[in-house]
This record gives sequence, C-alpha cells and structure tokens, in this order.
Amino acid sequence: MSSLGHRAVADRATLAAPDPMLPRPFVVRRTRQDTRDTYTLELEPIDGPALSWLPGQFTMLYAFGVGEAPISISGDPNRPDRIEHTIRNVGSVTAALVAAGPGTVLGVRGPLGTGWDVNSGKGGDVVFVAGGIGLAPLRPAVLELISHRADYGRVVLLYGARTPEDILFSDDLRSWAERHGIVVEVTVDNGQHAWRGRVGLVTQLVSRAGFDASRALALVCGPEVMMRYAAQALSDRGVRPERLRLSMERNMKCGVGLCGHCQLRELFLCVDGPVLGYDRLAPLMTRAEL
Ligand SMILES: Cc1cc2nc3c(=O)[nH]c(=O)nc-3n(C[C@H](O)[C@H](O)[C@H](O)COP(=O)(O)OP(=O)(O)OC[C@H]3O[C@@H](n4cnc5c(N)ncnc54)[C@H](O)[C@@H]3O)c2cc1C
Ligand code: FES
Repeated sequence: MSSLGHRAVADRATLAAPDPMLPRPFVVRRTRQDTRDTYTLELEPIDGPALSWLPGQFTMLYAFGVGEAPISISGDPNRPDRIEHTIRNVGSVTAALVAAGPGTVLGVRGPLGTGWDVNSGKGGDVVFVAGGIGLAPLRPAVLELISHRADYGRVVLLYGARTPEDILFSDDLRSWAERHGIVVEVTVDNGQHAWRGRVGLVTQLVSRAGFDASRALALVCGPEVMMRYAAQALSDRGVRPERLRLSMERNMKCGVGLCGHCQLRELFLCVDGPVLGYDRLAPLMTRAEL
C-alpha cells in the first residue's frame, strides 16, 4: 500500500474511533441496595456491544442533567454483558446515580484506567486489603481469581468497614470463604452489642495474616490514609513494592489524560492509574497529603 493509502486508512480509523468524551447510553436493568447509603446498579448498553473491561478499571458515569463521576466496575468479569457499579451516596452526582431506578438511562464513558492484573499473582499467595467502598473495585479481581482458583496459593481477604451495617457483599464474603477457600477476615471500626466479630483497623490485620510475603501479590483499595498504612504494613511483612498495588481514587474530570485534574507529580492517575504499583507510589506517599 502507498503511504497515501496508509494515511487514508489511518484517517478513517481516527474518524471511526469513538470520542472518549462522549458518553454512551446505558439503561439501568436492576438495582440492589447493599447498605444504608450504597447501591449496586446493573447496566446494559442500548446503542451497541457490551463493554470489554478489566478488573480494576472504572467508567465515568453520567447522571444526565446532574453530572459525571468516576465509578469502578464491581461486577463479574466472566459476565461482561452485566456491567455493575457499586456506588456510595456522598454528594450530588452519586445521589442521582443511586436514585436511578430500572429503566433510567445513564451515560457511560470507558472503561478507563489500569487494572489489577490479578493473573500476575498465579503461582503465589494473594492478599486483598479493602476499606469501606474499596471492596467494590476489588470484587472483580476476587471473582477473576476464583475462576482460576487452583492456580493460586493461599488467598486472604482483609476487609474493614465502619460498622456491621456497612459491610458490603456479605453473601459474597461468606461464599468466598466457604466455597473457594479464601481466608476472609472482617473488622469494623465501631461494633455494637450484637456484633461478635473483630473491632479495630483493617491495617492491624496485616501483620497477623497467614501468607508467604516473598511470593505474594497484594491488592489494596480504600481511603488514602488506610492505603498508606496498609502498604507500609505489607511492605514491612516483605511484600515486594512492584507486587503491591493500590487503587488511587482521586477526583477526576476528563478521565482520559486531558485536563490534569487528577495529576500527582508526573502521574495522571486516570490513565497511569488508578491501579499503580507501590514502587511508583511509595515516594509520593511519604507525605500526609499526597
Ligand atoms: C477511579 C475512581 C474510582 C471510584 N470508584 C468508586 C466506586 O466504585 N464507588 C463509589 O461509590 N465511589 C467511587 N469513587 C468515588 C466517586 O467518584 C466520588 O464519590 C464521586 O465523584 C463524588 O461525587 P458527588 O458529586 O456525589 O460528590 P461531591 O459533592 O463531589 O463530593 C462529596 C464528598 O466526597 C468527596 N469526594 C469526591 N470525590 C472523591 C473521591 N474520588 N475520593 C474520595 N472522596 C471524594 C468530596 O471531597 C466530598 O467530601 C471512585 C473515584 C475514582 C477516582
Ligand atoms: S482526570 Fe483529566 S487528566 Fe486525569
């Protein structure tokens, strides 16, 4: 093909490439209330094929007339036709999203960002550390691991919630422990009378958890302060920095590396992250405010 021919093909490809700023319409098929302030929405595209996505990636979810928010995909990667997002109502956009009932049309941009790459943990132990809504972005990685469970060694999931009522995916946690041999340890910040489980910070569970740190992959998601302490504790146990990954969920606007809203030094967290290795993040996590 002549260089002119190649140019014409390239131009056509550019023209055909979807505009990353243009949301696709998705209809809400089902909703589920998970906790007092958190809901899971199952979405289906109405203009074309299902999304192809990786555990750890997010989309920009648009409540028309209200605004857009980055929300991780929380569904099963083995069921890409069912795109799920688990959303905690903290402000105007998330309030509109959790109020969207079946039949509501939302805008979706993405999938965006980097994934957990849980497959790279095959042959060794895997440790998940989640705080609060941080269990939602980790859920697809757990489900991916379960679908190849025999390829992994010991798997430990440490999860901290504010109160027993804030514990997400209780049925999943039970099934992961009972049916898939995952050691699930849950702790809450504030336990009430009926709570017979642990009370305390999830980061305190890291030092006692049973896994071989020298061969472990560790995936961490939660509030930044929790991730900072969890990463330190995992590092102290001997998990190698490049085998320790965190999801950096900073405020984002464009989600595609254009606006600089998510910049952290040389990193644009929407495209370089949200999932990044501790080898790259550690120098940026030494200060109280990243
Ligand atoms: C990559 C990524 C993935 C995310 N995944 C999820 C998810 O799966 N489920 C979910 O519920 N939320 C998730 N979030 C957070 C979500 O995007 C924010 O809660 C949302 O943008 C808040 O918008 P709002 O208009 O409802 O509230 P606002 O009025 O904008 O904010 C309400 C409060 O939340 C704080 N806030 C806003 N954005 C963030 C943020 N990114 N991190 C921490 N605090 C924030 C604000 O400072 C304010 O105190 C994710 C964020 C990122 C960047
Ligand atoms: S959100 Fe715009 S560059 Fe990352």
